[in-house]
Amino acid sequence: MLIEQKLDSRPSNLRRLSYAYGSAHHIHLYGPPGPVMQHGGRTYDVWCLNDYLGLMNLPSAREAEGRTALELGASYPHAARITFGNSPEHEAMDRTLAAFTGKEEAMLLTLGYMGMVSVIDTLLDRHDILVYDQGIHACGIDGVRLHRGERFSFRHNDVAHLEAMLKAASEKLDPKRGSILVLVDGVYSMLGEQAPLARIVALKSRYKFSLLVDDSHGFGVLGRNGRGTAEAQGCEEGVDTLFSSFTKALGSLGGFVAARHSVIQHLRYNLRSHIFSRSMPLAVLRGLAERFRVMRTEPQRRETLWHNAQQLQQGLAAAGLDIGTPGGAPTPVHLQGDEIAAIRLVEMLREEFRLFAYAVAYPVIQKGKVLVRLVPTAAHTRQQIDRCIAAMSALPAMMPACFGGIAAAPSMPQRPDKGSEGRGAGQSRSLPATDNAEMSSAGIQRMCRPQGHARPGPTRSA
Ligand SMILES: Cc1ncc(COP(=O)(O)O)c(C=O)c1O
Repeated sequence: MLIEQKLDSRPSNLRRLSYAYGSAHHIHLYGPPGPVMQHGGRTYDVWCLNDYLGLMNLPSAREAEGRTALELGASYPHAARITFGNSPEHEAMDRTLAAFTGKEEAMLLTLGYMGMVSVIDTLLDRHDILVYDQGIHACGIDGVRLHRGERFSFRHNDVAHLEAMLKAASEKLDPKRGSILVLVDGVYSMLGEQAPLARIVALKSRYKFSLLVDDSHGFGVLGRNGRGTAEAQGCEEGVDTLFSSFTKALGSLGGFVAARHSVIQHLRYNLRSHIFSRSMPLAVLRGLAERFRVMRTEPQRRETLWHNAQQLQQGLAAAGLDIGTPGGAPTPVHLQGDEIAAIRLVEMLREEFRLFAYAVAYPVIQKGKVLVRLVPTAAHTRQQIDRCIAAMSALPAMMPACFGGIAAAPSMPQRPDKGSEGRGAGQSRSLPATDNAEMSSAGIQRMCRPQGHARPGPTRSA
């Protein structure tokens, strides 16, 4: 069988869904990024951008990006940092990040995903043992895949299971040649839960390991100063290596890694995504530096974010919707139906309520689970929040198959930046139940015909 035949006969889950329900994937959203954007010539409320602090559209940052692009081109400098792609501004950003995070040294990464994969790959050799949470982001998983030594996974946020895995890893380790690295996310991007970082750090008194945290969804938003999940939980010292993307709270591109001098020096000369790929464009860096400045000097943006997140989460919980235990901004609404039901639900949100949200299914989350992910930001208005709560509250009556009957309202979530360990924080028209047979039958071949992977957006009411 040729690879092309194999790929057509065994489509991945997302491709299968995308071909069958193309209006749910590869959406075109137009206009300045923010809580209101355009799609197919109509205006929508946007609940699907990780623009936590509302910085994507910061005029001074966009101005810096545009000015630099006009002066030097959008992609200058044209080389890897280790060769001819360095600049005083890249170096200054490294220093700013080290000072802000309180780590000895930091380094910019051109792309978050690639950077994280490469950091894991570069820190470890075959003698090292990797112990990781089963819920980590795909970039962590891909880093795990590259690891040539032993690995142990533990159940999501289950500290007792982590301890059992640490015990097993310690027994297997040759301490003269290797070490143990524990890898977790600070805030889990889809479930919105914080990692129990303080309890994980406490395990250091019994087991010898280093801790690497991907805090892409905590950095900039959690903790008094926005230093992230570890700051919020009072255990920053215990995080040995801190990684974050800049595509969430900073509304920009790239990311960074911060750690001890020896670690960052090793990464500077060995990180494959750094030495074999170009440096962050100066236009992007100047916009990032401006957003970073505003993130630090305008803490009220964090206040507004948490106020908005709390309003949204309380409203959804009061409506009896299952939002799990969000400890960050990402707000899941767990569904009972299957992934097709979830796709129909977000289509319903879009068509009936003019609201964009994500439908999330495998492989983004565990097989068999489906949810709608809502992202409150500092830029959302009270009216938008009320509209979103009203829309979500109307859905169980409109799509009962997705909800399996509404449960009694659970207790209100707490403000997530205050607590520790992730626990801080109408109209009705029945639709037919989802048609699973359509997905599981020979329809797959038909769906995978190369008819263009992204069918155009909705036509019904556009
Ligand atoms: C937890 C986490 N880590 C890393 C990344 C990768 O970030 P980037 O978009 O900068 O490549 C993401 C992005 O979705 C993420 O959610």
